[in-house]
Amino acid sequence: MSSFVKYALVLLLPAAYLARRYYRSSALQTTALITAPVDEKPVKSIMQAPREDLAPPKDDPFTLAQLKEFDGSDPSKPIYVSIKGTVFDVTPKADVYGAGRSYNIFAGKDGSKGLGMSSLKEEHAVPDYRELNESDRKVLDDWHAFFTKRYNIVGRVSDHPVSDVKEEDTSANASPNL
Ligand code: HEM
Ligand SMILES: *[C@@H]1O[C@H](CO)[C@@H](O)[C@H](O)[C@H]1NC(C)=O
Repeated sequence: MSSFVKYALVLLLPAAYLARRYYRSSALQTTALITAPVDEKPVKSIMQAPREDLAPPKDDPFTLAQLKEFDGSDPSKPIYVSIKGTVFDVTPKADVYGAGRSYNIFAGKDGSKGLGMSSLKEEHAVPDYRELNESDRKVLDDWHAFFTKRYNIVGRVSDHPVSDVKEEDTSANASPNL
């Protein structure tokens, strides 16, 4: 090999390596922008991005009994999911919250405890999340923030068993990177 070729390889190989690394890390960063935070275990980049076109939040009262009407079993009605007493309209994602779909367990009710526990069990999908420890409450708060950025708020649960659910409204702002 001529010394010119050797010299060129010595220069070009590291340059190619660095360029590749640079390309890959910027590709990773782009992915990270549409990836939910690490705390949200079930959330991956396939999740839809936050929406910019949400309606102003409404404060209409719903009892837990009234919420049941919006569990997706009647396709002509909207589907609601409540988290810590905040009622979200998840009708745009009827493909996951509708009857027989994977997250229908959370439709037409407040399943805060199950969300905090990352559980899809019927017995966990209940509004009273007070026995959750700190880390599961953090998961729950992250879900609240996730929904706040993606779904219209149509009201609040008027008979939620946790009386201080209103404290919640601050946690949506506490995780700005969601
Ligand atoms: C094997 C385990 C799991 C897999 C593979 C999985 C997969 C997924 C996928 C692919 C999505 C995005 C759906 C979409 O945007 O169309 C999603 C969203 C979601 N997952 Fe899971 N998941 C798993 C477990 C769980 C568990 C245990 C929970 C219980 C809390 C859960 C709750 C949710 C919720 C609430 C959403 C948000 C749906 C939305 O409104 O966009 N997931 N999951
Ligand atoms: C919180 O509770 C969950 C479920 O009971 C448990 O897996 C987890 O280890 C607990 N975390 C802490 C920090 O106690």
